[in-house]
Amino acid sequence: MSAAAQKARAAAAALDYVETGMTLGLGSGSTAEIFVRLLGQRVKQGLAVRGIPTSQATADLAAAEGVPLMPVEQADRIHLTIDGADEVDGRFRLIKGGGGCLLREKIIAHASDRMVVVVDETKLVGRLGAFPLPVEVDPFGFTITAKKVFDALRAAGVKRPDVTLRRQGDGPAPFVTDGGHYILDCACGELPDPEAADRHLKAIPGMVEHGLFLGLARTVIVGEDHGVKVMEL
Ligand code: A5P
Repeated sequence: MSAAAQKARAAAAALDYVETGMTLGLGSGSTAEIFVRLLGQRVKQGLAVRGIPTSQATADLAAAEGVPLMPVEQADRIHLTIDGADEVDGRFRLIKGGGGCLLREKIIAHASDRMVVVVDETKLVGRLGAFPLPVEVDPFGFTITAKKVFDALRAAGVKRPDVTLRRQGDGPAPFVTDGGHYILDCACGELPDPEAADRHLKAIPGMVEHGLFLGLARTVIVGEDHGVKVMEL
């Protein structure tokens, strides 16, 4: 079975956590997109929820699928966020941001009562770091910030970090996030101490947010070939 089919199974299973009246954080990426489409079907059948999208792409999709949206500024409580991930380890630590939406995803996940992560089996790892860690930075002085990011990862035990500015497709222009920032993709091979990386990165001026989601996910739904595995922390 393909990863796409596993993602669809995980996304469908996440609907079990949704109750009428909830305000939902809507993640970004292909798995979250499947969830939003399925949620739209439930809304058409009478489910009353409001969504807070974590990217313009998710906002556009949710609107097209008939999911009512709420401006994030008006939310006094977010009951549940459903989002994908690029890597998940055994302690539910995540790498996110492959799609470049990590800042808004983290703001919403952090503000939610519960975060449910929906992934295919390939996202489960013993150790984080094979997927390059996305680090969102202010465009001003980004070359200086990139050097500091390199130093921070070294200080966190990464032997040879490779810090690269993300581009738009194959062209030379930098990729720009919904918030107007750049992304530095940091190939680490292995992140021996994610908490140390978090601390060191947060000390850098110009570092807006990084893609390590630590202590946020409580539930991980893994799509498999013959069903789903639901893991709770
Ligand atoms: C978006 O910036 C990311 O954090 C996604 O949640 C992550 O890349 C997972 O994406 P897929 O569901 O497309 O694999």
